[in-house]
Amino acid sequence: MCGIVGYTGPHNAITPLIEGLRRLEYRGYDSAGIALGTPNKLFIEKRAGKLNNLEQSLSSIPTARSGIGHTRWATHGGPTDSNAHPHVDNDGKLAVIHNGIIENYAELKAVLESKGHTFSSDTDTESVAHLLSDLRKKHGGDLSAAMREAVKSLRGSFTLVAIHADTPDVIVGVRRNSPLVVGLGKNENFMASDVAAFIEHTKRAIELGQDQVVTLTPTTVSITDLDGKTVTPKEYEITWDASAAQKGGFAHFMLKEIFEQPKAVADTLIARLSDNKQIVLDEIALTAAEIKSLEKIVVIACGTAYHAGMIAKYAIEKWAKISVEVEIASEYRYRDPIINKNTLVIAISQSGETMDTLMALRHAKAAGARILAICNTNSSTIPRESDAVIYTHAGPEIAVASTKALLTQIVAVYLIGLHLAQVRSQLTDDQVADLYNEMLELPGKIEQILETVEPLRALTRKFADANTILFLGRNIGYPVALEGALKLKELAYIHAEGFAGGELKHGPIALIDSVSATPVIAILPAGHEHSLDEKMASNIQEVKARGARVIVIAEEGANVVGAEYVIRIPVTNPLFQPILATVPLQVFAYEIAVARGSDVDQPRNLAKSVTVE
Ligand code: M6R
Repeated sequence: MCGIVGYTGPHNAITPLIEGLRRLEYRGYDSAGIALGTPNKLFIEKRAGKLNNLEQSLSSIPTARSGIGHTRWATHGGPTDSNAHPHVDNDGKLAVIHNGIIENYAELKAVLESKGHTFSSDTDTESVAHLLSDLRKKHGGDLSAAMREAVKSLRGSFTLVAIHADTPDVIVGVRRNSPLVVGLGKNENFMASDVAAFIEHTKRAIELGQDQVVTLTPTTVSITDLDGKTVTPKEYEITWDASAAQKGGFAHFMLKEIFEQPKAVADTLIARLSDNKQIVLDEIALTAAEIKSLEKIVVIACGTAYHAGMIAKYAIEKWAKISVEVEIASEYRYRDPIINKNTLVIAISQSGETMDTLMALRHAKAAGARILAICNTNSSTIPRESDAVIYTHAGPEIAVASTKALLTQIVAVYLIGLHLAQVRSQLTDDQVADLYNEMLELPGKIEQILETVEPLRALTRKFADANTILFLGRNIGYPVALEGALKLKELAYIHAEGFAGGELKHGPIALIDSVSATPVIAILPAGHEHSLDEKMASNIQEVKARGARVIVIAEEGANVVGAEYVIRIPVTNPLFQPILATVPLQVFAYEIAVARGSDVDQPRNLAKSVTVE
């Protein structure tokens, strides 16, 4: 939530700042602003609305070699010009941008007002600008020292970046429970919420630890803890290319990312089976004895990642015979969960920064559980605070709606399930190898679905006027139904709900309205285990009899009765079906959103990385 970028170097700062903000707009897009460091005076411009509004208002921009920029997802104070960042002190010489929440801002504000500061916004952030201003004076103009002292009195989660007109080439940043990375250029340096902001300029990055303060000039980078003790930076190389963060000819990032799924799945699967048929998953960092003594797995995640967790339950319980509980991360830490050292907690997160998941992780860790992260973002907070991490290889996911990250998360949980099953002797090496080899066919099968996507896009547009769309699934198709509904809600703003087929008759069937012919999308379970396909066939008849228009997602060759439309997906192992069945649902939500004129990549009220609780 909120994108932050800072630049100091030989070039005109406006270009890297606006470019960086464009790349970070997925993090929040209800207002944007910049502060440019010209000697003795800051140039500040900020506007409600998307980055375009800011750009259009930038007519006479002074040449500046440094600056900070912000794209906002509002927490405190609505999306107005005055609440947009940067916020300045009463001298107009110090500017600060912020991602997160300052929980004690009201107390700070009261103290600062009593000292004569006047406030001009409704934000929590402005109190930091005034506080820093006072502390900078106290520290003889040292902005870094001021930042160190300020942070000691702040509660909450935050990334803060500040600049002062008296030292315009100096940018100071700090992070607590919120991301900030440093980009190391040649005679220029950057800081940003995400490497995407500066990937075009440098691939050398530094990860900043909790409560560390970084001070940048064009040629120096200094990092300290809050007591001013120097910290040796951990440098790393960014492995993905700038083109990965561009649309590459697609109308939207989401569509591009849907089409990147075969590669993302293949990359996450690659080289995971040894010649002697063992799943290679060293990153799990558990000994065979530890795996054998596992009593329970708890998955914590939010939104789409939570659906990957639900899929994990079906696969891991089936293969490894370990009980799996799946928890919505935001609820988890408000209970007294029963966990011990024989519990493995799996935290799933694309961004690695989701605050609800991070807080649940810390709660589980404090209770003695071992934490394994599944994450798509290198060196982000969740993997850093976990005992072990399996990185998914989806590449940068820019669209707010998660697509390729989900499919790779599902692959990761399958690999975990197979590994645990093998070590616990619940599956033979041959069975594991067969399942792995079947997984290797999934990228080609996704490809097949995407090659024949045009008729689906045309069909989808027929449902663009619906007020409600329901999704039905059974067994491992149930989380797929939930995911289909979530995508539609977030992208097309249509009332959508996913149900387990068997639950229909316990209430939800009342939602079927014969007058508007409520569309129902049913995912037909694969194979014949427990005759689930027949049970779903009955559910289809039940909704049809009450006036629903039914679309069925079914495997090639499966017998479908009662559907107005059938979307075919390739045959696969029943437990792998979510990887294939999810794809048409992503396309369905995308196409309806386009038809309804929604902003697909930046849906209203949302942000990609949810760094507040
Ligand atoms: O970065 P994370 O995977 O932790 O994010 C979790 C959810 O916020 C995310 O999956 C969200 O539900 C997506 N926008 C859904 O498409």
